[in-house]
Amino acid sequence: MRVYIVLLGPPGAGKGTQAKIISDALGLPHVSSGDIFRENLKNQTDLGALAKRYMDRGELVPDDVTVAMIRDRLTREDCGMGALLDGFPRTPVQAEVLDEMLVQLQGKVVAVPYINVPENVLVDRLGGRWTCQAQGHVYHEKHNPSKVPGVCDIDGSSLYQREDDKSETVKRRIRVYLEQTSPLIDFYRKQGKLIEIDGTQAIDRVSSGLLDALPRIEN
Ligand code: AP5
Repeated sequence: MRVYIVLLGPPGAGKGTQAKIISDALGLPHVSSGDIFRENLKNQTDLGALAKRYMDRGELVPDDVTVAMIRDRLTREDCGMGALLDGFPRTPVQAEVLDEMLVQLQGKVVAVPYINVPENVLVDRLGGRWTCQAQGHVYHEKHNPSKVPGVCDIDGSSLYQREDDKSETVKRRIRVYLEQTSPLIDFYRKQGKLIEIDGTQAIDRVSSGLLDALPRIEN
């Protein structure tokens, strides 16, 4: 059976940061809906142009477009054992479609780590975030700086600040999260899959807490 882990949390909670660590530790590919949209944007595809209209406003890309993109990604060869999902599902509709999709793929969501961080911390984190051009490695100018300012420690590519990290857009993204995504916390809690973790701890404490709490995965 394929196994899927869904990372939940508000914008800036540290989902992308933790996903890179956990996917290496568990041997599951990191599937980030936001990264796929940004990759399309960089490659100037039609999907990228469509997604940009929503992302720049801090709103969600329509469910049908997002679901089709994730369906395509999850049927690729590297997802043969399952995947670590970051940023999807993000609405109750997406969560239900994911369950249907996973029946077809003979898999299921086994755990849902929820990284809980209060709003004032999120604004500070997104305002100071720097992301690497090549592979999306994430830094923070105060909490997790790169060794050389503006340069990724891992692949040497240059770092940039995301368009949607402007303060007005961040506020909108947090509102959209509270309205449309936070109902998923109860959705997965009722299924007994939610693992809540205090995301205000240091990055390595969050990772070790998550890895201790996640079920063992047989590859
Ligand atoms: P997406 O890219 O998914 O953005 P997000 O969910 O808003 O999350 P972020 O990437 O901003 O934050 P994160 O939780 O990954 O935090 P990070 O690790 O970077 O989505 C972008 C847009 O795409 C959406 O707004 C929407 O338009 C669209 N979209 C995506 N998925 C969609 C879907 N399913 N449906 C519809 N639309 C969709 O960390 C943040 C900062 O904090 C970094 O600087 C980091 O270094 C720092 N940090 C991390 N952890 C810690 C720590 N423990 N202590 C101190 N600093 C820390």
